[in-house]
Amino acid sequence: MSQEKIARAGGELLEDPGPDGLITRGFLRGAGWPASMVRRRPVIGIANTWSELNPCNGGLRDLAGAVKSGVIAAGGLPLEFPTISIAEAFTRPSSLYLRNLLAMDTEEMVLASPIDGVVLLGGCDKTLPAQLMGAASAGKPAITLAAGPRPLSTWEGQPMTIEALWPLIDQRRMNQLDDDSWSRLEGCLSAGPGTCNVMGTALTMAVIAEILGMALPGSSLLAAGSPARTEAAKATGARAVTLVAEQRTPADVITDAALRNAFRGICAVGGSTNAVIHLQAIAGRLGRRLTTEQLRQLSSSTPMIADVKPSGEMLLQDLELDGGIPALMGRLRGIMELDSYAGDGRRWADAASDPRSVTGCLKSPANPAHRTGSLALLTGTLAPSGAILKRSAATPRLCQHRGRAVVFSGVEDMRARIDDPAMDIDADSVLVLRGAGPLGGPGMPEVGHLPIPARLLSRGVTDMVRISDARMSGTATGTVVLHVSPEAAVGGPLALVRDGDVIDLDADAGRLDLLVGPDELQRRQIAQPRTTFGGRGFEFLYRNHVTQADTGCDFDFLQA
Ligand code: FES
Repeated sequence: MSQEKIARAGGELLEDPGPDGLITRGFLRGAGWPASMVRRRPVIGIANTWSELNPCNGGLRDLAGAVKSGVIAAGGLPLEFPTISIAEAFTRPSSLYLRNLLAMDTEEMVLASPIDGVVLLGGCDKTLPAQLMGAASAGKPAITLAAGPRPLSTWEGQPMTIEALWPLIDQRRMNQLDDDSWSRLEGCLSAGPGTCNVMGTALTMAVIAEILGMALPGSSLLAAGSPARTEAAKATGARAVTLVAEQRTPADVITDAALRNAFRGICAVGGSTNAVIHLQAIAGRLGRRLTTEQLRQLSSSTPMIADVKPSGEMLLQDLELDGGIPALMGRLRGIMELDSYAGDGRRWADAASDPRSVTGCLKSPANPAHRTGSLALLTGTLAPSGAILKRSAATPRLCQHRGRAVVFSGVEDMRARIDDPAMDIDADSVLVLRGAGPLGGPGMPEVGHLPIPARLLSRGVTDMVRISDARMSGTATGTVVLHVSPEAAVGGPLALVRDGDVIDLDADAGRLDLLVGPDELQRRQIAQPRTTFGGRGFEFLYRNHVTQADTGCDFDFLQA
C-alpha cells in the first residue's frame, strides 16, 4: 500500500455506504456505541500511554474518560487506543532507546486508524516528545495533554521533591543512611500517580508542548488528579474537535518561531537538557532545525525567570499560583514571538496573561532568578558538533575550569573504579565518561551525572566538572557537560582523551576544548568505528539509523 493510501485513512470510513463502512460501524455497535454515534464526525482518537509499567502515567485512564466527555459534548466521537509506554525508571538499556519506537507506534496508529484527529495523553519523560514526533509526521490535527505533576511526598517531616533523592543516594554510598532509613525512603519517594514534581524532563516537555501551541494554555502545570486537570482534559477533547474543523495540523502550529519560543521556554524555566534533544527531534520531523548558534543566541538572551526546582528554589505549584505558562509568556513579551499559536487557537499575544505575583516564583526579566541563559551551548575541539551544560544548575566557579582528565571508557568501567582509593584524582580533576552516547549507550542513558568519588565526597567536595556523551536526569544538578557530539562510538574526539590530558571548559565563551595537539591526536586515532550493524528487530533499526544528539537522536529515515 502506498504512503498516500495510508495517509487517507480517516474518519470518513464511518460514513462509507459500502461494506467497509458497514463493517466499521458494525464493530463499533458491537463495542457498545449506539447507532446515533457511529456516523459521528469528527472521530477523535485518544492515544493513551497509560500502563502499569509506567506509574507516572497512572492517572491517564481517568483523564481519557474526561477527554471523551469533552469530545462527545463538542459533537465528536472519541475512540481511545493504547500505544507503548516508556517509564524512565523501568526501561533498559535506556528510555531514549525506545522513544523512536513510541513515535513510530503513534504515527502509524494515527495514520492507519479511522480517526480525523488525535488527543495525545503522555507524561513520563519520553512519552510526550515521542507522541509529538509521531503526530508531527502523521499530519492530522493533534493536541496533547500531560499527566501533570504528582503530589509532594514527605521525608523526615519535610516536603520532598524528586531531586532531593540524589544527595540521599550519596549519603547511602557514604554509609550515612542506614538500612532502616533506606527502606523508609522507598515508601516516601512517590506520593501517587503523576510526573516528577520539579522542572525535570517530563514537566519541561509539558511546558514545551504548551508553548508550541500543542497543549491548551495553562494546562501543563496543573496537578495530577486535580479537578482543574480533569476540566483541562474535557476542554482538550473539545478543542480536538474544533482543531479538525479548522484542519490545523502540527505543521501549521510548530513553526520556526514556535520552536524558538519553546527553546526560550526551556531557558526561562531552567528546564531539562534532555528537552533540547527532543525539541530538535520534533523540529526534524517537520524539516526544521535550530542550529547551535541559534540556540546559543536564544539562551543568552532569555533570562531564567521561573525560580523553580531543580535550577531554582521554589515549587511548581508556586509557579502555577503565579499564573503558570501564560503568565510566563506575558512576562516575556518583547522576548517571545507572540504571533505564534497557543493551543486554544488564539495567538500567544492574546493568550498570554499578566503574572499574578502571588508567591514571587515568577521573576521579572529585569530581576531574574538567573541572568545568563540557563543553558550553555558549547563547541570546541572536544565537541565539534556541540555539547550542553545546564548552567543554572552548575557551580558558578566551575563554569570556567581547566583540569586534568580522569577517563572512564564506559558505564561499567565508571561503576567499577569511581570509588577506587588508588585513583589519581583531586577536586580539580575533570571526570570524563565515554561510550554512553546515542549509539554507544545505546540510547544515552542518564549517567552523565557521574557520582563524586567517595574519597572526595568525604572531604566535602560536592561538585566537579563532568563530561560525557550521555544524558542526565532533568532533576539532577552539578557542573555536568552532556551530549558531547559526535559521541565516542562514532569516532568523536571524546574517544581519544587519555588520563591526564588537560580539558578547558569556558561556559561564557561557549567552548569545550581538549588541549592536546593535532599531531598527538592523529597518533591516537583509532581504526574507523563501525557504521553498519547486523542483528535483528528494533535493535537493528536503532543501531543503523539513530542520529547524534545535536539532531535529536531520531532515526535518519524518519526525519522530514
Ligand atoms: Fe516519570 Fe520522572 S520518572 S516523570
